[in-house]
Amino acid sequence: MNPNPKEVAGRRAAELVRSGMTVGLGTGSTVHFTLLALAERIRAEGLAIRGVPTSLDTERKALELGIPLVPLDAVDSIDLTIDGADEIDPLFSMIKGGGGALLREKVVASISRREVIVVGPEKVVQRLGTTFALPVEVVPFARPVLARQLARRGCEPKLRTAKDGSRYLTDNGNEILDCRFPDGIADPAGLERELDFLPGIVETGLFIGLAHVLVIGHPDGRAEVREK
Ligand code: 5RP
Repeated sequence: MNPNPKEVAGRRAAELVRSGMTVGLGTGSTVHFTLLALAERIRAEGLAIRGVPTSLDTERKALELGIPLVPLDAVDSIDLTIDGADEIDPLFSMIKGGGGALLREKVVASISRREVIVVGPEKVVQRLGTTFALPVEVVPFARPVLARQLARRGCEPKLRTAKDGSRYLTDNGNEILDCRFPDGIADPAGLERELDFLPGIVETGLFIGLAHVLVIGHPDGRAEVREK
């Protein structure tokens, strides 16, 4: 069976973790393999870490796997965070939030000394927004207003629903507008600054200047590590 690029990347990043570290635990199907690898290292080598989860899903998985967790209020900074991405460009700017955990992921990234991003090769793009809609987390009350304001900025906002069609809410009780930009995003940093000013936007999935290391898993089993 061919290697799974997500598993290759997720497991390679887990090798960067050292005993004694406080480790940010990202969210998604690539980080899933990081969690498995960390749990294996805890059992096999007695790796001693404290994990800070970025979502309720990751919290549940980490607890099931026996990864010790620590609440955010007991932590000033995080040594290393391992997280996935939906797109990453040559400057390591990213779109995140496909799994809906953008707010907690960005808070954890903002206090992380090193943010390691794990992806398959299809996530590496020249221009953000070309393969993935930008998730924007919004307060439900403000959503109709924001949908119009976002559309005026050249995108097509779509309210995210759960797989069964029911209302989708983030771990923080908010909604997500997935905003497709037909030509991609020309100025991600400028767009982030602009959106941060709109009342009712809780967070955007634009992650600028937060990633330090990129681990790309390839289908031939190679893990490519790029430093910013
Ligand atoms: C969740 C995220 C994920 O990191 C991103 O969606 C990548 O997920 P996956 O590894 O499953 O492709 O931002 O909010």
